[in-house]
Amino acid sequence: MDIKKLLSKLTLEEKIYQLMQIRAYTYLYDSSLNIITGPDTKYGIDEKYVYEVGTVLNCGVAENMIKIQEKYLANSKNKIPLIFMQDVIHGYRTLYPINLGLASSFDTDLAEKCAAMAAKEASVDGIHLTFAPMVDLARDARWGRVMESSGEDTYLNCKMAEATVKGYQGDFGKYNVASCVKHFAAYGAAEGGRDYNTVDMSERTLREYYLPSYKAAIDAGASSLMTAFNVVDGIPAAGNKWLVKDLLRDEWGFNGVVISDYAAAYEMINHGFCEDEKEVAYNAINATLDIEMVSNCYVLKLKELVEEGKVKESQIDECVLRILELKDKLGLFDNPHRSTSPEEAAKFHVCPEHRALARYAATQSAVLLKNEGVLPLSKDIGSIAVIGPLANTGEIFGNWFCNGRADETISVLDGIKNAYTGVINYAEGCSVSRESTDESGISEAVEAAKKSDAVILCLGEHQFDNGECKSKAFLDLPEIQYKLYREILKANPNTAVVLFTGRPLTIRELKDTSPAILNMWEPGTEGGNACADLIFGDVNPSGKLTMSFPYTVGQCPLYYNYYTTGRPKVSDDIKNAYVTSYIDSPNGPLYPFGYGLSYTEFEYSDFNLSGDVMERGGKLTASVKVKNVGKYKGKETVQMYIRDLFGSTVRPIKELRGYEKIELMPGEERVVSFDITEDTLAFYGSDLVKKAESGKFHVFIGKNSACTHFAEFVLK
Ligand code: BGC
Ligand code: BGC
Repeated sequence: MDIKKLLSKLTLEEKIYQLMQIRAYTYLYDSSLNIITGPDTKYGIDEKYVYEVGTVLNCGVAENMIKIQEKYLANSKNKIPLIFMQDVIHGYRTLYPINLGLASSFDTDLAEKCAAMAAKEASVDGIHLTFAPMVDLARDARWGRVMESSGEDTYLNCKMAEATVKGYQGDFGKYNVASCVKHFAAYGAAEGGRDYNTVDMSERTLREYYLPSYKAAIDAGASSLMTAFNVVDGIPAAGNKWLVKDLLRDEWGFNGVVISDYAAAYEMINHGFCEDEKEVAYNAINATLDIEMVSNCYVLKLKELVEEGKVKESQIDECVLRILELKDKLGLFDNPHRSTSPEEAAKFHVCPEHRALARYAATQSAVLLKNEGVLPLSKDIGSIAVIGPLANTGEIFGNWFCNGRADETISVLDGIKNAYTGVINYAEGCSVSRESTDESGISEAVEAAKKSDAVILCLGEHQFDNGECKSKAFLDLPEIQYKLYREILKANPNTAVVLFTGRPLTIRELKDTSPAILNMWEPGTEGGNACADLIFGDVNPSGKLTMSFPYTVGQCPLYYNYYTTGRPKVSDDIKNAYVTSYIDSPNGPLYPFGYGLSYTEFEYSDFNLSGDVMERGGKLTASVKVKNVGKYKGKETVQMYIRDLFGSTVRPIKELRGYEKIELMPGEERVVSFDITEDTLAFYGSDLVKKAESGKFHVFIGKNSACTHFAEFVLK
């Protein structure tokens, strides 16, 4: 398609319509298109728009997508196909674990495969672009959207971002979808962990910790980018010229489609940044925002701005060109239905192959937080009590579920039934609701626990208690769940808690008293089968936390790579005054970043650094011998951290700079090594230039971020 020629044929008004995105809802629930109902009226969307707009969000199933595209093309003057966009975040019909869980696998190949599977299921249902990956750095467990992120570490976020983009987009084949990285920028740093709240930080912190994951996604080829709801240095992202035009476009060279978040352009009025729709349109177009999601300031005001000479028509042309190029890249001009196929949807959705991948992913994402020998359970024991509000429900598939369904999701109870032939005694015990105070089910659960050889107790957050707009000021389990837990533990000490959550929780009491805790996160469609694989030891847990679990909510935001301060606290065991500390809580986490146990034991020895001086342009190698000294085959993520002791700006106490996931048979050992180059040591100094500074460094290798350094070297 000759895009430029097509552009030249469009009137100014037609061009402006291309910049607008409306919801599929508008087409689906008003087949006559005479009455546009629902919240859309709030944004002034009427019939005139629906056959002129450029893109559509929140789509549906294949049959509807075909109808919408056909109807649109039949009625639209220029016959430019619509792009269908949707949030395909952790699967489509087959759901794999939430992204915070998947990141705990530290397995980028797996993340890529999962994204490719989601793309396949979505593409045949008519989706062309996914609003993913979400790569916001997440340091605050109060924020509900940590479930979509890969956690608190920039290095890992970049790896996961790249892998996910590759998985979605592949080589832009039939079963791929375009990827839209989000939410640019620093949405995860909302003050108080409260969604949509103010973000404020130095440009140095932004560049050093928050921006690299978006850049990594773009460098991996992401076709599109979504701006965030929040302000960046006082200016809402959707109209932030410095952020989008100067940094993203001019400095990074990104020429893909930039889209606002949902109504976020219009919300610049609520922010108190723009007085009216006209100011919104003016600021957004000057920031080079291409698509306005749902609100309609562009459609209402851009023409007027051009006529008044305040906006150049060429600015609009650039935006339209990027949108048309994406349509062309997706092949929509050749085939507006692209890969949409009800038949293939029926064939691929929740097919055995996809279920198998989702199941494997859930086993790799789970984190064993504690185990005093209760797990794994033998399949030869006579009876198991399966208890708890999250034991007999499919509502463990996670919050961004697209077309996923509870009735297609394997509950823990069903997973155990599939794996185990002994007697199963099930009881719900209590409700999962945070508000519930109803203790009436506890006695039945106690009876079930008493008459069983072991107990699997499923506790945690409901899947819809995390995600967008699910910020929390309390991070513990609801008291009713603790009541159930205490009674069950008394009735049968051979109890393992299986935890479901979309965020780190403050589970101090569980840590202190439970014999075993297996964190499944929100594990997706095959959650129950994966849980059974793990509790019976068919798969050995190997996930490692990618967000610190706080000791108490008052510590948030909490992250392992903090700055030392002028008055560091040397140890949580020592009560010393006048250092940075709380008088009522340790500084450290309940469980640190990188933490996770296995049914086997890994012994680390022979730590080695190839030299103690690194020349400019040179390389050192850090290595360790890891041996499986336990009884089970197992996987271990070996982690390398670096500390720059003195810098032109202060430096974190350690930072992840490498990891390798290995699998060892009992008795097997392997040397794992990591290269250290200038790149490994580089950071943004106060001049905002990324480089390695001469001086002393410490090297750490260990099982998690609490490891201590074993060597020092000097960069000349
Ligand atoms: C979310 C985005 C999402 C968009 C479209 C917004 O509320 O913040 O992550 O892509 O809705 O569904
Ligand atoms: C305090 C100051 C005080 C100084 C001298 C410091 O520890 O932070 O506020 O003036 O001691 O007493």
